[in-house]
Amino acid sequence: MRISVFGLGYVGTVTAGCLARRGHSIVGVDVQGQKVDSFNQGVPPIVEPGIGELLAEAKRAGRLRATRDCAEAVAATELTILCVGTPSSVSGTLDLGYVRQVVGEIGAALRACPKPHSLVMRSTMLPGSTRQLVAEFLGGLEGTAGLAVYYYPEFLREGSAVADFEKPSLAVVGTADGAPPPEALRSELFGLEAAVVGWDAAELVKYACNAFHATKIAFANEIGRVSKQCGIDAREVMELLCRDTRLNLSAYYLKPGNPFGGSCLPKDVRALTQHGRSEGLQLPLLENLLPSNERHLQSLLGLIAASGQTEVIILGLAFKSDTDDLRESAMVEVAQTLLGRGYRLRIYDPALNLAALVGSNRRLIEVKMPHLASFLHADLAAAVGAQGLVVAAQPCVPVSELAKVITARHRVLDVNGWPELRELPSSYEGLCW
Ligand SMILES: NC(=O)c1ccc[n+]([C@@H]2O[C@H](COP(=O)([O-])OP(=O)(O)OC[C@H]3O[C@@H](n4cnc5c(N)ncnc54)[C@H](O)[C@@H]3O)[C@@H](O)[C@H]2O)c1
Repeated sequence: MRISVFGLGYVGTVTAGCLARRGHSIVGVDVQGQKVDSFNQGVPPIVEPGIGELLAEAKRAGRLRATRDCAEAVAATELTILCVGTPSSVSGTLDLGYVRQVVGEIGAALRACPKPHSLVMRSTMLPGSTRQLVAEFLGGLEGTAGLAVYYYPEFLREGSAVADFEKPSLAVVGTADGAPPPEALRSELFGLEAAVVGWDAAELVKYACNAFHATKIAFANEIGRVSKQCGIDAREVMELLCRDTRLNLSAYYLKPGNPFGGSCLPKDVRALTQHGRSEGLQLPLLENLLPSNERHLQSLLGLIAASGQTEVIILGLAFKSDTDDLRESAMVEVAQTLLGRGYRLRIYDPALNLAALVGSNRRLIEVKMPHLASFLHADLAAAVGAQGLVVAAQPCVPVSELAKVITARHRVLDVNGWPELRELPSSYEGLCW
Protein backbone atom coordinates (compact mmCIF):
# COMPACT_ATOMS: atom_id res chain seq x y z
CA MET A 1 0.00 0.00 0.00
CA ARG A 2 0.97 3.64 -0.40
CA ILE A 3 0.58 5.18 3.03
CA SER A 4 0.91 8.75 4.30
CA VAL A 5 1.83 9.15 7.96
CA PHE A 6 0.97 12.53 9.50
CA GLY A 7 3.07 13.60 12.49
CA LEU A 8 6.67 12.39 12.51
CA GLY A 9 7.07 12.16 16.29
CA TYR A 10 7.47 9.03 18.41
CA VAL A 11 4.37 7.25 17.13
CA GLY A 12 4.54 8.42 13.50
CA THR A 13 8.22 7.60 13.03
CA VAL A 14 7.84 4.09 14.42
CA THR A 15 4.66 3.54 12.39
CA ALA A 16 6.45 4.67 9.22
CA GLY A 17 9.53 2.50 9.84
CA CYS A 18 7.58 -0.65 10.72
CA LEU A 19 5.13 -0.33 7.81
CA ALA A 20 8.01 0.30 5.39
CA ARG A 21 9.64 -2.93 6.62
CA ARG A 22 6.42 -4.75 5.67
CA GLY A 23 6.93 -3.48 2.12
CA HIS A 24 4.61 -0.47 2.07
CA SER A 25 5.62 2.87 0.52
CA ILE A 26 5.56 5.66 3.07
CA VAL A 27 5.11 9.41 2.69
CA GLY A 28 5.77 11.14 6.00
CA VAL A 29 4.14 14.53 6.66
CA ASP A 30 5.07 17.03 9.34
CA VAL A 31 4.91 20.78 9.79
CA GLN A 32 8.49 20.86 11.12
CA GLY A 33 10.89 21.17 8.20
CA GLN A 34 13.73 19.67 10.23
CA LYS A 35 11.81 16.43 10.79
CA VAL A 36 10.86 16.26 7.11
CA ASP A 37 14.51 16.75 6.07
CA SER A 38 15.66 14.11 8.54
CA PHE A 39 13.09 11.62 7.20
CA ASN A 40 14.11 12.34 3.63
CA GLN A 41 17.64 11.29 4.56
CA GLY A 42 16.38 8.09 6.18
CA VAL A 43 17.36 9.37 9.62
CA PRO A 44 14.82 9.20 12.46
CA PRO A 45 13.96 12.51 14.13
CA ILE A 46 13.56 10.67 17.47
CA VAL A 47 15.67 8.36 19.63
CA GLU A 48 14.18 4.86 19.74
CA PRO A 49 15.99 1.50 19.65
CA GLY A 50 15.86 -0.18 16.23
CA ILE A 51 14.17 2.63 14.31
CA GLY A 52 17.38 3.96 12.70
CA GLU A 53 17.96 0.70 10.82
CA LEU A 54 14.34 0.53 9.68
CA LEU A 55 14.31 4.05 8.24
CA ALA A 56 17.73 3.65 6.62
CA GLU A 57 16.62 0.40 4.95
CA ALA A 58 13.31 1.95 3.83
CA LYS A 59 15.20 4.87 2.31
CA ARG A 60 17.64 2.55 0.49
CA ALA A 61 14.69 0.54 -0.88
CA GLY A 62 13.02 3.73 -2.13
CA ARG A 63 10.01 3.25 0.14
CA LEU A 64 10.38 6.39 2.27
CA ARG A 65 10.04 10.10 1.68
CA ALA A 66 8.56 13.05 3.53
CA THR A 67 6.88 16.34 2.71
CA ARG A 68 5.17 19.28 4.36
CA ASP A 69 2.48 19.27 1.68
CA CYS A 70 -0.65 17.59 3.01
CA ALA A 71 -2.62 17.60 -0.24
CA GLU A 72 0.28 16.10 -2.19
CA ALA A 73 0.69 13.29 0.38
CA VAL A 74 -3.03 12.46 0.36
CA ALA A 75 -3.12 12.48 -3.44
CA ALA A 76 -0.12 10.12 -3.61
CA THR A 77 -1.48 7.53 -1.16
CA GLU A 78 -4.58 5.42 -0.51
CA LEU A 79 -4.25 5.26 3.25
CA THR A 80 -3.49 8.05 5.73
CA ILE A 81 -2.43 7.36 9.32
CA LEU A 82 -2.78 10.31 11.64
CA CYS A 83 -0.29 10.45 14.55
CA VAL A 84 -0.06 14.15 15.39
CA GLY A 85 0.20 15.24 19.01
CA THR A 86 -2.79 15.78 21.29
CA PRO A 87 -1.25 17.69 24.21
CA SER A 88 -2.88 19.05 27.36
CA SER A 89 -3.92 22.68 27.20
CA VAL A 90 -2.99 24.99 30.09
CA SER A 91 -6.27 24.17 31.85
CA GLY A 92 -5.65 20.42 31.46
CA THR A 93 -8.25 19.88 28.74
CA LEU A 94 -7.31 17.94 25.63
CA ASP A 95 -6.00 20.17 22.84
CA LEU A 96 -7.18 18.78 19.50
CA GLY A 97 -5.79 21.75 17.57
CA TYR A 98 -3.22 19.74 15.56
CA VAL A 99 -5.69 16.95 14.78
CA ARG A 100 -8.35 19.43 13.69
CA GLN A 101 -5.91 21.18 11.40
CA VAL A 102 -4.79 17.94 9.74
CA VAL A 103 -8.30 16.50 9.37
CA GLY A 104 -9.46 19.81 7.90
CA GLU A 105 -6.63 19.72 5.37
CA ILE A 106 -7.28 16.07 4.48
CA GLY A 107 -10.99 16.86 3.97
CA ALA A 108 -10.13 19.76 1.70
CA ALA A 109 -7.63 17.64 -0.27
CA LEU A 110 -10.18 14.86 -0.82
CA ARG A 111 -12.89 17.32 -1.83
CA ALA A 112 -10.53 18.87 -4.38
CA CYS A 113 -9.50 15.45 -5.72
CA PRO A 114 -12.19 12.87 -4.82
CA LYS A 115 -10.95 9.25 -4.63
CA PRO A 116 -11.26 6.19 -2.40
CA HIS A 117 -9.20 6.72 0.75
CA SER A 118 -8.87 5.29 4.25
CA LEU A 119 -8.11 7.56 7.21
CA VAL A 120 -6.81 5.90 10.36
CA MET A 121 -6.63 8.10 13.46
CA ARG A 122 -4.05 7.01 16.04
CA SER A 123 -3.73 10.18 18.11
CA THR A 124 -5.17 9.69 21.58
CA MET A 125 -8.54 11.47 21.68
CA LEU A 126 -11.50 11.50 24.08
CA PRO A 127 -14.68 9.58 23.16
CA GLY A 128 -16.75 11.41 20.58
CA SER A 129 -13.73 13.13 18.98
CA THR A 130 -13.64 11.06 15.79
CA ARG A 131 -17.40 11.45 15.37
CA GLN A 132 -17.12 15.20 15.85
CA LEU A 133 -14.15 15.56 13.47
CA VAL A 134 -15.92 13.54 10.77
CA ALA A 135 -19.08 15.62 11.13
CA GLU A 136 -17.15 18.88 11.08
CA PHE A 137 -14.56 18.29 8.36
CA LEU A 138 -15.37 15.14 6.40
CA GLY A 139 -19.14 15.37 5.90
CA GLY A 140 -20.26 13.83 2.62
CA LEU A 141 -16.89 12.18 1.92
CA GLU A 142 -17.63 9.03 3.86
CA GLY A 143 -19.16 5.75 2.66
CA THR A 144 -20.11 5.65 -1.02
CA ALA A 145 -18.06 8.82 -1.66
CA GLY A 146 -14.99 6.70 -0.97
CA LEU A 147 -13.66 7.68 2.45
CA ALA A 148 -13.54 5.20 5.34
CA VAL A 149 -12.51 6.49 8.78
CA TYR A 150 -11.10 4.28 11.56
CA TYR A 151 -9.95 5.00 15.09
CA TYR A 152 -7.06 2.70 15.96
CA PRO A 153 -5.52 3.49 19.36
CA GLU A 154 -1.78 3.08 19.74
CA PHE A 155 -0.45 1.17 22.76
CA LEU A 156 3.30 1.30 22.11
CA ARG A 157 5.76 2.30 24.83
CA GLU A 158 8.73 4.50 24.08
CA GLY A 159 11.93 2.50 24.46
CA SER A 160 10.33 -0.69 23.12
CA ALA A 161 8.18 0.97 20.49
CA VAL A 162 9.29 -1.09 17.48
CA ALA A 163 8.65 -4.41 19.25
CA ASP A 164 5.34 -3.09 20.66
CA PHE A 165 4.21 -1.94 17.21
CA GLU A 166 4.88 -5.39 15.78
CA LYS A 167 3.28 -7.21 18.70
CA PRO A 168 0.87 -4.82 20.42
CA SER A 169 -0.34 -5.67 23.92
CA LEU A 170 -3.86 -4.91 22.67
CA ALA A 171 -5.33 -4.32 19.22
CA VAL A 172 -8.67 -2.53 18.95
CA VAL A 173 -10.10 -0.80 15.92
CA GLY A 174 -13.09 1.51 15.95
CA THR A 175 -15.32 1.85 12.91
CA ALA A 176 -18.26 4.16 12.25
CA ASP A 177 -20.85 1.46 12.93
CA GLY A 178 -18.78 -1.26 14.59
CA ALA A 179 -18.68 -3.28 11.34
CA PRO A 180 -15.35 -4.99 10.53
CA PRO A 181 -12.90 -3.17 8.25
CA PRO A 182 -11.99 -4.70 4.86
CA GLU A 183 -9.81 -7.81 4.92
CA ALA A 184 -6.81 -6.01 3.37
CA LEU A 185 -6.66 -3.43 6.15
CA ARG A 186 -7.12 -6.07 8.82
CA SER A 187 -4.30 -8.24 7.51
CA GLU A 188 -1.91 -5.40 6.64
CA LEU A 189 -2.51 -2.94 9.46
CA PHE A 190 -4.91 -3.72 12.29
CA GLY A 191 -4.16 -7.43 12.62
CA LEU A 192 -6.70 -10.21 12.14
CA GLU A 193 -7.09 -10.56 15.92
CA ALA A 194 -8.00 -6.90 16.48
CA ALA A 195 -11.26 -6.35 18.35
CA VAL A 196 -13.71 -4.27 16.30
CA VAL A 197 -15.93 -1.78 18.14
CA GLY A 198 -17.48 1.64 17.48
CA TRP A 199 -15.27 4.78 17.30
CA ASP A 200 -16.21 5.98 20.79
CA ALA A 201 -15.42 2.70 22.56
CA ALA A 202 -12.05 2.47 20.77
CA GLU A 203 -11.27 6.01 21.93
CA LEU A 204 -12.23 5.31 25.54
CA VAL A 205 -10.37 2.01 25.79
CA LYS A 206 -7.08 3.87 25.27
CA TYR A 207 -7.84 6.20 28.19
CA ALA A 208 -9.05 3.29 30.32
CA CYS A 209 -5.75 1.47 29.69
CA ASN A 210 -3.59 4.46 30.54
CA ALA A 211 -5.65 5.32 33.63
CA PHE A 212 -5.33 1.67 34.72
CA HIS A 213 -1.57 1.72 34.21
CA ALA A 214 -1.31 4.95 36.20
CA THR A 215 -3.50 3.43 38.94
CA LYS A 216 -1.27 0.36 39.15
CA ILE A 217 1.88 2.47 39.48
CA ALA A 218 0.38 4.81 42.07
CA PHE A 219 -0.97 1.81 44.01
CA ALA A 220 2.39 0.03 44.03
CA ASN A 221 4.08 3.24 45.15
CA GLU A 222 1.59 3.81 47.99
CA ILE A 223 2.00 0.22 49.20
CA GLY A 224 5.72 0.90 48.87
CA ARG A 225 5.53 3.89 51.23
CA VAL A 226 3.45 1.92 53.74
CA SER A 227 5.96 -0.94 53.52
CA LYS A 228 8.94 1.30 54.16
CA GLN A 229 7.23 2.94 57.11
CA CYS A 230 6.60 -0.56 58.53
CA GLY A 231 10.21 -1.60 57.88
CA ILE A 232 9.15 -4.14 55.22
CA ASP A 233 10.68 -4.59 51.77
CA ALA A 234 7.99 -3.34 49.38
CA ARG A 235 9.34 -5.39 46.49
CA GLU A 236 8.71 -8.56 48.45
CA VAL A 237 5.13 -7.52 49.27
CA MET A 238 4.31 -6.59 45.68
CA GLU A 239 5.99 -9.70 44.31
CA LEU A 240 3.77 -11.81 46.58
CA LEU A 241 0.69 -9.79 45.53
CA CYS A 242 1.51 -10.52 41.89
CA ARG A 243 1.66 -14.26 42.52
CA ASP A 244 -2.12 -14.32 42.92
CA THR A 245 -3.31 -14.53 39.35
CA ARG A 246 -6.87 -15.48 40.37
CA LEU A 247 -7.98 -12.38 42.24
CA ASN A 248 -5.10 -9.90 41.83
CA LEU A 249 -3.65 -10.02 38.33
CA SER A 250 -6.79 -11.13 36.52
CA ALA A 251 -10.08 -9.90 35.14
CA TYR A 252 -11.64 -10.49 38.56
CA TYR A 253 -12.90 -7.27 40.21
CA LEU A 254 -12.65 -5.46 36.89
CA LYS A 255 -16.31 -5.52 35.94
CA PRO A 256 -18.32 -2.34 36.47
CA GLY A 257 -21.29 -3.01 38.75
CA ASN A 258 -22.10 -2.99 42.47
CA PRO A 259 -20.17 -0.72 44.81
CA PHE A 260 -17.80 -2.88 46.84
CA GLY A 261 -18.93 -4.01 50.27
CA GLY A 262 -18.86 -6.97 52.60
CA SER A 263 -17.01 -7.64 55.77
CA CYS A 264 -13.47 -7.10 54.46
CA LEU A 265 -12.83 -4.57 51.70
CA PRO A 266 -14.29 -1.42 53.33
CA LYS A 267 -12.99 -2.38 56.78
CA ASP A 268 -9.48 -3.16 55.62
CA VAL A 269 -9.14 -0.13 53.35
CA ARG A 270 -10.31 1.99 56.30
CA ALA A 271 -7.75 0.41 58.63
CA LEU A 272 -4.88 0.80 56.18
CA THR A 273 -5.59 4.44 55.43
CA GLN A 274 -6.16 5.22 59.11
CA HIS A 275 -2.79 3.60 59.84
CA GLY A 276 -1.19 5.75 57.13
CA ARG A 277 -2.76 8.90 58.56
CA SER A 278 -1.61 8.09 62.09
CA GLU A 279 1.93 7.60 60.78
CA GLY A 280 1.87 10.82 58.78
CA LEU A 281 1.84 9.05 55.40
CA GLN A 282 -0.03 10.64 52.52
CA LEU A 283 -1.88 7.92 50.57
CA PRO A 284 -4.26 9.80 48.28
CA LEU A 285 -5.14 6.84 46.06
CA LEU A 286 -6.01 4.51 48.94
CA GLU A 287 -7.67 7.39 50.83
CA ASN A 288 -10.04 7.95 47.95
CA LEU A 289 -11.23 4.36 47.51
CA LEU A 290 -14.09 4.68 49.99
CA PRO A 291 -15.16 8.12 48.69
CA SER A 292 -15.10 6.69 45.15
CA ASN A 293 -17.26 3.78 46.28
CA GLU A 294 -19.67 6.14 47.97
CA ARG A 295 -19.84 8.23 44.78
CA HIS A 296 -20.78 5.09 42.85
CA LEU A 297 -23.55 4.33 45.33
CA GLN A 298 -24.85 7.89 44.91
CA SER A 299 -24.95 7.44 41.13
CA LEU A 300 -27.10 4.33 41.63
CA LEU A 301 -29.43 6.28 43.93
CA GLY A 302 -29.51 9.03 41.30
CA LEU A 303 -30.70 6.57 38.64
CA ILE A 304 -33.39 5.25 40.99
CA ALA A 305 -34.59 8.81 41.63
CA ALA A 306 -34.48 9.64 37.90
CA SER A 307 -36.66 6.62 37.08
CA GLY A 308 -39.60 8.47 38.65
CA GLN A 309 -40.80 5.22 40.25
CA THR A 310 -41.91 5.23 43.87
CA GLU A 311 -42.15 1.45 44.20
CA VAL A 312 -38.78 -0.30 44.25
CA ILE A 313 -37.99 -4.01 44.30
CA ILE A 314 -34.44 -4.95 45.31
CA LEU A 315 -33.19 -8.28 43.97
CA GLY A 316 -30.34 -9.31 46.25
CA LEU A 317 -29.72 -7.50 49.53
CA ALA A 318 -26.45 -9.11 50.62
CA PHE A 319 -23.17 -7.68 49.31
CA LYS A 320 -22.96 -10.42 46.69
CA SER A 321 -24.74 -13.59 45.56
CA ASP A 322 -24.83 -16.82 47.54
CA THR A 323 -24.15 -15.27 50.93
CA ASP A 324 -26.35 -13.84 53.65
CA ASP A 325 -23.62 -11.41 54.75
CA LEU A 326 -25.18 -7.97 54.97
CA ARG A 327 -22.16 -6.18 56.44
CA GLU A 328 -21.41 -2.99 54.48
CA SER A 329 -23.66 -4.19 51.66
CA ALA A 330 -24.39 -1.35 49.26
CA MET A 331 -27.97 -2.58 48.89
CA VAL A 332 -28.60 -2.22 52.62
CA GLU A 333 -27.57 1.43 52.22
CA VAL A 334 -29.83 1.75 49.17
CA ALA A 335 -32.76 0.19 51.02
CA GLN A 336 -32.24 2.38 54.07
CA THR A 337 -31.99 5.55 51.95
CA LEU A 338 -35.07 4.69 49.91
CA LEU A 339 -37.12 4.01 53.03
CA GLY A 340 -36.00 7.34 54.46
CA ARG A 341 -37.14 9.04 51.25
CA GLY A 342 -40.59 7.47 51.40
CA TYR A 343 -40.29 4.84 48.64
CA ARG A 344 -42.42 1.69 48.82
CA LEU A 345 -39.87 -1.12 49.08
CA ARG A 346 -39.91 -4.87 48.54
CA ILE A 347 -36.85 -7.10 48.79
CA TYR A 348 -36.13 -10.55 47.39
CA ASP A 349 -32.99 -12.43 48.42
CA PRO A 350 -33.22 -16.23 48.48
CA ALA A 351 -29.92 -16.51 50.40
CA LEU A 352 -31.28 -14.45 53.27
CA ASN A 353 -33.03 -16.10 56.18
CA LEU A 354 -33.64 -13.48 58.85
CA ALA A 355 -34.23 -16.05 61.55
CA ALA A 356 -30.81 -17.53 60.85
CA LEU A 357 -28.91 -14.22 61.04
CA VAL A 358 -26.60 -14.04 64.01
CA GLY A 359 -23.81 -11.88 65.40
CA SER A 360 -22.78 -8.67 63.62
CA ASN A 361 -25.17 -9.33 60.74
CA ARG A 362 -28.14 -9.41 63.09
CA ARG A 363 -26.93 -6.34 65.01
CA LEU A 364 -26.47 -4.46 61.74
CA ILE A 365 -30.03 -5.13 60.65
CA GLU A 366 -31.42 -4.31 64.07
CA VAL A 367 -29.75 -0.90 63.89
CA LYS A 368 -30.15 -0.05 60.20
CA MET A 369 -33.40 -1.76 59.19
CA PRO A 370 -35.25 -3.06 62.24
CA HIS A 371 -38.37 -3.70 60.12
CA LEU A 372 -36.51 -5.63 57.44
CA ALA A 373 -38.82 -8.62 57.81
CA SER A 374 -41.78 -6.58 56.61
CA PHE A 375 -40.00 -5.73 53.31
CA LEU A 376 -38.51 -9.15 52.66
CA HIS A 377 -40.58 -11.53 50.53
CA ALA A 378 -39.82 -15.23 50.26
CA ASP A 379 -42.04 -15.47 47.17
CA LEU A 380 -40.62 -13.88 43.99
CA ALA A 381 -44.04 -12.97 42.55
CA ALA A 382 -45.06 -11.25 45.78
CA ALA A 383 -41.77 -9.33 45.85
CA VAL A 384 -41.97 -8.21 42.23
CA GLY A 385 -45.67 -7.27 42.48
CA ALA A 386 -47.60 -5.66 39.64
CA GLN A 387 -45.28 -2.73 38.92
CA GLY A 388 -42.22 -0.80 40.06
CA LEU A 389 -38.51 -0.43 39.49
CA VAL A 390 -36.64 -3.72 39.84
CA VAL A 391 -33.11 -2.98 41.08
CA ALA A 392 -31.27 -6.12 39.99
CA ALA A 393 -28.21 -6.11 42.24
CA GLN A 394 -27.44 -9.82 41.97
CA PRO A 395 -28.30 -12.70 39.65
CA CYS A 396 -30.02 -14.34 42.61
CA VAL A 397 -32.83 -15.86 40.55
CA PRO A 398 -32.84 -17.33 37.00
CA VAL A 399 -34.03 -14.92 34.32
CA SER A 400 -36.55 -17.61 33.24
CA GLU A 401 -38.19 -17.17 36.67
CA LEU A 402 -38.10 -13.39 36.39
CA ALA A 403 -39.72 -13.64 32.96
CA LYS A 404 -42.80 -15.19 34.60
CA VAL A 405 -43.39 -12.21 36.91
CA ILE A 406 -41.86 -9.10 35.35
CA THR A 407 -44.19 -7.28 32.97
CA ALA A 408 -44.17 -4.20 30.76
CA ARG A 409 -45.38 -2.26 33.83
CA HIS A 410 -41.98 -2.81 35.45
CA ARG A 411 -38.68 -1.12 34.80
CA VAL A 412 -35.37 -2.90 35.37
CA LEU A 413 -32.22 -1.24 36.65
CA ASP A 414 -29.33 -3.64 36.02
CA VAL A 415 -26.66 -2.97 38.63
CA ASN A 416 -24.29 -5.80 37.92
CA GLY A 417 -24.15 -6.40 34.17
CA TRP A 418 -26.72 -9.14 33.57
CA PRO A 419 -27.41 -8.91 29.81
CA GLU A 420 -30.30 -11.42 29.75
CA LEU A 421 -32.41 -8.85 31.62
CA ARG A 422 -32.75 -6.98 28.34
CA GLU A 423 -34.97 -9.79 27.09
CA LEU A 424 -37.66 -9.11 29.70
CA PRO A 425 -40.78 -7.15 28.64
CA SER A 426 -39.91 -4.33 31.07
CA SER A 427 -37.88 -1.28 30.09
CA TYR A 428 -34.17 -1.71 30.83
CA GLU A 429 -31.40 0.52 32.08
CA GLY A 430 -27.89 -0.36 33.26
CA LEU A 431 -25.85 1.30 35.99
CA CYS A 432 -22.80 1.76 33.71
CA TRP A 433 -24.11 0.76 30.28
N1 LIG B 1 4.57 8.68 22.59
C1 LIG B 1 3.94 7.58 22.96
O1 LIG B 1 4.52 6.68 23.59
C2 LIG B 1 2.50 7.35 22.59
C3 LIG B 1 1.94 6.09 22.75
C4 LIG B 1 0.61 5.89 22.38
C5 LIG B 1 -0.14 6.96 21.89
N2 LIG B 1 0.44 8.19 21.77
C6 LIG B 1 -0.38 9.27 21.20
O2 LIG B 1 -0.01 9.44 19.84
C7 LIG B 1 -0.07 10.81 19.47
C8 LIG B 1 1.29 11.28 18.98
O3 LIG B 1 2.21 11.15 20.04
P1 LIG B 1 3.77 11.41 19.82
O4 LIG B 1 4.42 11.10 21.12
O5 LIG B 1 4.22 10.72 18.60
O6 LIG B 1 3.76 13.00 19.59
P2 LIG B 1 4.98 13.92 19.13
O7 LIG B 1 4.75 15.24 19.76
O8 LIG B 1 6.27 13.22 19.34
O9 LIG B 1 4.77 14.06 17.55
C9 LIG B 1 3.69 14.73 16.99
C10 LIG B 1 4.14 15.29 15.66
O10 LIG B 1 3.00 15.86 15.01
C11 LIG B 1 3.49 16.95 14.24
N3 LIG B 1 2.39 17.82 13.81
C12 LIG B 1 1.71 18.74 14.50
N4 LIG B 1 0.82 19.36 13.70
C13 LIG B 1 0.94 18.80 12.49
C14 LIG B 1 0.28 19.01 11.24
N5 LIG B 1 -0.69 19.93 11.12
N6 LIG B 1 0.64 18.27 10.20
C15 LIG B 1 1.61 17.35 10.31
N7 LIG B 1 2.27 17.11 11.45
C16 LIG B 1 1.94 17.83 12.52
C17 LIG B 1 4.47 17.62 15.18
O11 LIG B 1 5.34 18.51 14.49
C18 LIG B 1 5.19 16.40 15.76
O12 LIG B 1 6.33 16.06 14.99
C19 LIG B 1 -0.57 11.55 20.72
O13 LIG B 1 -1.95 11.70 20.64
C20 LIG B 1 -0.17 10.64 21.85
O14 LIG B 1 -1.00 10.82 22.98
C21 LIG B 1 1.75 8.41 22.09
